[in-house]
Amino acid sequence: MLNKNILIGVTGGIAAYKVVEVASRLKKLGANVRVMMTGSATEFVSPRTFQEITGNAVFVEMFGDAAHFHVAHVALADFADLVLIAPATANFLAKAAHGIADDLLTTTILASDKPLLIAPSMNTKMFLNPSTQENLRILKSRGVKILEPASGNLACGTVGKGRLPEPEEICAAVEKFFAPKILVGKKILVTAGGTIEAIDPVRYIGNRSSGRMGYEIAKSAANHGAEVVLISGKSELEPPDGLKFLKVESAVEMREKVLSEFDSVDAVIMSAAVADYRVKNISEQKIKKSAENLTLELVKNPDILRELGGLKKSQVLVGFAAETQNILDYANKKLVEKNLDFIVANDVTAEGAGFGVTTNIASIIWRGGKIETFPKMTKADLSEKIIERVADLLK
Ligand code: PMT
Repeated sequence: MLNKNILIGVTGGIAAYKVVEVASRLKKLGANVRVMMTGSATEFVSPRTFQEITGNAVFVEMFGDAAHFHVAHVALADFADLVLIAPATANFLAKAAHGIADDLLTTTILASDKPLLIAPSMNTKMFLNPSTQENLRILKSRGVKILEPASGNLACGTVGKGRLPEPEEICAAVEKFFAPKILVGKKILVTAGGTIEAIDPVRYIGNRSSGRMGYEIAKSAANHGAEVVLISGKSELEPPDGLKFLKVESAVEMREKVLSEFDSVDAVIMSAAVADYRVKNISEQKIKKSAENLTLELVKNPDILRELGGLKKSQVLVGFAAETQNILDYANKKLVEKNLDFIVANDVTAEGAGFGVTTNIASIIWRGGKIETFPKMTKADLSEKIIERVADLLK
């Protein structure tokens, strides 16, 4: 983000206060941040707040502060590497979709040929109104990136979709925009989540995977320009935008989907928690409670990664090892047996690591024995490390 020029446009929504934090974070990351506001936005946050945070004059009036920038709307448009509008009101979306320029902010947007990232925030009914949805569609069709609003309590007292994403999410989207495109022309297959193995139509054997690790890896690969296929077992997460998403349940289904993509991909990263066993005879009806003990016979599932290791031609293969003891030894054994390029070992019993949480603590073990050990970091950051290494191998 160092020396990147980011122009933030703030329109008149209650969530404008969150954008102060966004400006502050971007500045701390080394970006040059300038802010323009609509008149309504100044009803929620004072321009002086943004001025103090960014160290730059804030632009509101079309014909106001000419001392700073000659023909402000053109100069501001030229300054930006990226224009971020947050919060974006329904009114702003309508104007931007239809080329209406009736204040400094909308005139600057019209005078700009720079990438535009918009974070809408409004009442749920306004957001879902067909006019707003159509305006979003128009903007997306022109290549504008839209950051989906979150769901939750809204300032108007209702609950629904329309909240401005949290500052860290907005900043992550900005960082993603600037991520070096080291995987352009490459196709990456990522697996995520846990497989579930049916017992009967009601019950299954599952595991604690949330899918977060794999979804972050898929996002990171896409941010770096790769064509991404994400094959996911059970997960409550929203599939990331801009990639091919295939949902599966069992290990057998995951194997089928992985094998059908394998020949066309440059790398596979298996972060899915694949069940090692499945129920031999799945009951067609719900099993009734009768005997004191119930014994299920389990049979071994195919080991997908091991099979890929045998089929591998030029593909880069990355595995994960979810361990609870002898982490490095067990992971190294899997690296060799499954013919991987490297394996990411995590102690899933350590605090802040493994299943469900947003962070992980991992070591990467390479063929030949080299080991890289990382401190606790977000799964998004660990994904970056993994993707950088995959990109190096694919060079
Ligand atoms: O999803 P989260 O909540 O974010 O949690 C992340 C995670 C803990 C699931 C992740 O970091 C992780 O460790 N994933 C691997 C889980 C696992 O199944 O590990 P394993 O050591 O049992 O398997 C070794 C490797 O073989 C893995 O890459 C696995 O995907 C693969 N495998 C395992 C069994 C099988 N039948 N087929 C496979 O391909």
